[in-house]
Amino acid sequence: MKLWKGRFSKAENSLAEEFNASIEFDQRLYKQDITGSIAHARMLGKQGIIDKEEALAIESSLLEILKDIEDGKIEFTIEQEDIHMNIESILTERLGPLGKKLHTARSRNDQVAVDIRLYLKDEINHVVELLEELKQTLVTLAKEHQDTVMPGYTHLQRAQPVTLAFYLMAYWEMFHRDVRRFRFCYETTNTLPLGSGALAGTTYNTDRDFLADELGFDRLCDNAMDAVSDRDFAIEFISSCSIAMMHLSRFCEELIIWSSTEFQFIEMDDGYSTGSSIMPQKKNPDMAELIRGKTGRVYGDLMTLLTLMKGLPLAYNKDMQEDKLPVFDAGDTLKSSLAIFIQMITTMKVNVQIMEKAAKSGFMNATDAADYLVSKGLAFRDCHEIIGRMVLYCIENGKAIEELTMEELKGFSEKFEKDIYEKIDIRSCIKAKKSKGSTSFESVEQMLAAKS
Ligand code: ARG
Repeated sequence: MKLWKGRFSKAENSLAEEFNASIEFDQRLYKQDITGSIAHARMLGKQGIIDKEEALAIESSLLEILKDIEDGKIEFTIEQEDIHMNIESILTERLGPLGKKLHTARSRNDQVAVDIRLYLKDEINHVVELLEELKQTLVTLAKEHQDTVMPGYTHLQRAQPVTLAFYLMAYWEMFHRDVRRFRFCYETTNTLPLGSGALAGTTYNTDRDFLADELGFDRLCDNAMDAVSDRDFAIEFISSCSIAMMHLSRFCEELIIWSSTEFQFIEMDDGYSTGSSIMPQKKNPDMAELIRGKTGRVYGDLMTLLTLMKGLPLAYNKDMQEDKLPVFDAGDTLKSSLAIFIQMITTMKVNVQIMEKAAKSGFMNATDAADYLVSKGLAFRDCHEIIGRMVLYCIENGKAIEELTMEELKGFSEKFEKDIYEKIDIRSCIKAKKSKGSTSFESVEQMLAAKS
């Protein structure tokens, strides 16, 4: 029997019934729904809206239902449409008329809103835990590679030498910002809609502050109409997921390039690679590619929810039932991507020698050679020009800057002295960086101390 059957004289069309039902996906909220209902029942009892004993009976029956769901003893039905009505109808089956009192001073509109917020508060905590684990993994790896020198790129062209530790800590910053974004999102989510009723509040002497305390919310939604129609927090959640996925995806893109035969900077562990069904020699970085691909899916989730909400008049509209799929999917995808990514970078092999060799070619000490001439009193722009001509000469003669003889160097500028060779050594280039936050060994040492 439908809980809302009273006004209807004819049964629902079966296709419509199936189309309307959300139980297939919102059953994931069973625990939050029961938690919210128990708090609501306690509040009704405390306020004398129902008897204290009635509240207690409802609470213990809800706890039994929770246990039965977890033991796989309960089958939800499409007839009862969603998780809220499924649980309420089971309660009524078990308690008789008393079960029907639970929904006093409550609507499914404030009920579903509190359920998603409860779900997301937990979900955010899980995501933050994984992000913290990833940050720690990066610190551990960086500590091992403080002396591993590699090319830093701009436009994917060799630019200036950096250390792998410095590079890894750049990603640490991104994931740290993600943590902050999720914490902020937790704050927005931590506001209680329950007690708002369908849209305009209720006529009962309810105690919403008590509900907030019971359910662990920091504050109340201040306007009942906003409370039931707000999904900003869910959009912020998926948006934060999208940004974190974007960071993972950039990292994956680099790891994919680095594991190519052309680069060979890293080798993925066999456990996180796959082979080809036709080409026996292949070892593919599928995990990294999949994370990059799944990023698109999470962006899709964000677009889904933004588009879903954009034309909705106040207050609740059934369109909003569709919010759960993108919210669940974005969280699931980010969590599984983070978990696999942590494993992948922990097990990958870094080819330190190949990285260092690459760092020594490509004239990445050209800026340092120019800085050398600046230290001898020339203007930077002139030095840039001189070194540019020198690099061209090197390319034509198949030499690196440090391979030029003193005589060749003097041909470009009289200011060159013997100490130039020491100044343009790859490690000296790194060591010489003085600005705060630079790649110098000392600066990275400080970063690691401050951020681990
Ligand atoms: N299943 C619905 C949802 O997820 C619950 C709220 C239904 N409210 C209503 N007035 N029909 O949005």
